[in-house]
Amino acid sequence: MRMRKKKHADERINACSDIIFKLENDSLPEDEFLSNARIHLEIGCGKGAFICETAKRNPDINFIAVEKIPNVAVTALERAKAEEIPNIRFMIGDASGICEKLKEHSIERLYLNFSDPWPKKGYAKRRLTHRGFLEKYKRILKADGAIFFKTDNRPLFDFSLEELAESGFRLEAVTNDLHASEYAENNVMTEYEKNFSSQGIPINRVEAYLD
Ligand SMILES: C[S@@+](CC[C@H](N)C(=O)[O-])C[C@H]1O[C@@H](n2cnc3c(N)ncnc32)[C@H](O)[C@@H]1O
Repeated sequence: MRMRKKKHADERINACSDIIFKLENDSLPEDEFLSNARIHLEIGCGKGAFICETAKRNPDINFIAVEKIPNVAVTALERAKAEEIPNIRFMIGDASGICEKLKEHSIERLYLNFSDPWPKKGYAKRRLTHRGFLEKYKRILKADGAIFFKTDNRPLFDFSLEELAESGFRLEAVTNDLHASEYAENNVMTEYEKNFSSQGIPINRVEAYLD
């Protein structure tokens, strides 16, 4: 996601520090928020429309949103703060390192929405659904945990279905046209999703379970 440099991004991020988890001595702080039995994670939350709406609809679940670009994260942070959503925390940084710091088998669900496709074969390992990432997710997901994945990109979707199946996930609710499917009713749209679907581009979606 390309963005013009935001004015005073550091100051604006600091103003939201109460809803940001920072790694302390390379590990997560002891925090009551993390002791909730139900924690859902989104990797690559962008400007936060999806995580904010999903958190409002599910007040009993705690949500952690990861975004690697601070200038993008600031929009999500300010949205969560302005809407006073109590059950979201953010982590700004790369998913790869962050996943290594999260507690084993602590995450009930992981959302990957419109992840960067990295279309060149040589960059396949950077795709967030590459088996290398899936192994990291398996360590943090609960035994009955799941990954919910949406994308407009059909080659990335087909690649992801193969990677998920090869990594031992059970695939359910697979659709190549989410908005025309039975899963549309409870769907929360992301910023990218709104943009793609306004252009008539169908959205692919899968739920991948570990049990
Ligand atoms: C294509 S955008 C989609 C944003 C949002 N999920 C949506 O659907 O509107 C992908 C987002 O994921 C973030 N991202 C990509 N790779 C990441 C990684 N390894 N760790 C954390 N964030 C990542 C990017 O910075 C970008 O904001």
